[in-house]
Amino acid sequence: MKVVLFGATGMVGQGVLRECLLDPSVENVLAVGRSPTGKRHAKLREIVHDNFLDYSAIRSQLAGYDACCFCLGVSSVGMSEQRYRHLTYDITLAAAKTLATLNPQMVFIYVTGAGTDSTEQGRVMWARVKGKTENDLLKLPFKAAYMFRPAGIQPLHGIRSKTGWVQAIYVGTAPLLTLLNRVAPKYMTTTEQVGRAMIKVARDGFPRPVLESEDINRV
Ligand SMILES: NC(=O)c1ccc[n+]([C@@H]2O[C@H](COP(=O)([O-])OP(=O)(O)OC[C@H]3O[C@@H](n4cnc5c(N)ncnc54)[C@H](OP(=O)(O)O)[C@@H]3O)[C@@H](O)[C@H]2O)c1
Repeated sequence: MKVVLFGATGMVGQGVLRECLLDPSVENVLAVGRSPTGKRHAKLREIVHDNFLDYSAIRSQLAGYDACCFCLGVSSVGMSEQRYRHLTYDITLAAAKTLATLNPQMVFIYVTGAGTDSTEQGRVMWARVKGKTENDLLKLPFKAAYMFRPAGIQPLHGIRSKTGWVQAIYVGTAPLLTLLNRVAPKYMTTTEQVGRAMIKVARDGFPRPVLESEDINRV
């Protein structure tokens, strides 16, 4: 598989990148981000891009891919709905529409979160915005699209969150998270499990378009 990866510098994206580089079924990875990953690997190529609403300058380089793992995303904490919608909905749909046009055989995988509101009508702002993003991604003409809804994600293998308070929580509670991952897969997964599940679902599919934490851990 040839994989395009957005958000490779983030906590989830670093995990997906690690597993893609390790997995023999992934032939190469194109990381598209606003900053470089700092990694070197024979399978990895990177594009540093600055306008995530407009891909015309790099369009020709985005063709010929089998899968996209879209791990670019932000926390809504302290953000207005307008700003969160721009960073979540507008950026994701702009990238996905470009990729769907160029790669109709592509499998598109998006990371949302547990509690995402598919009705788009609920009271929780982030959940509504993620719900609308999921719903509109599922309407695009990809071969298939899958929505990953992890709850907690434990970073493994030295991976760090870009968000300071998230990283602090994960460091402070690491032993508890390891235990939770074992006894409560409904609430906890790891960067390794998310990465492996994305590769497997991109390659083999899944019976449903939405995967909750337990599904991610079982795949
Ligand atoms: N972490 C968790 O426990 C968790 C749990 C459930 C769901 N999720 C979801 O997973 C997704 C990724 O989370 P994460 O923890 O990996 O976040 P993160 O560590 O904060 O990383 C965010 C990624 O998005 C990129 N990004 C952010 N704003 C951008 C912008 N304006 N333009 C271009 N790139 C931008 C960052 O690039 P730079 O490196 O250039 O900043 C980075 O690659 C989010 O949608 C989040 O809701 C996370």
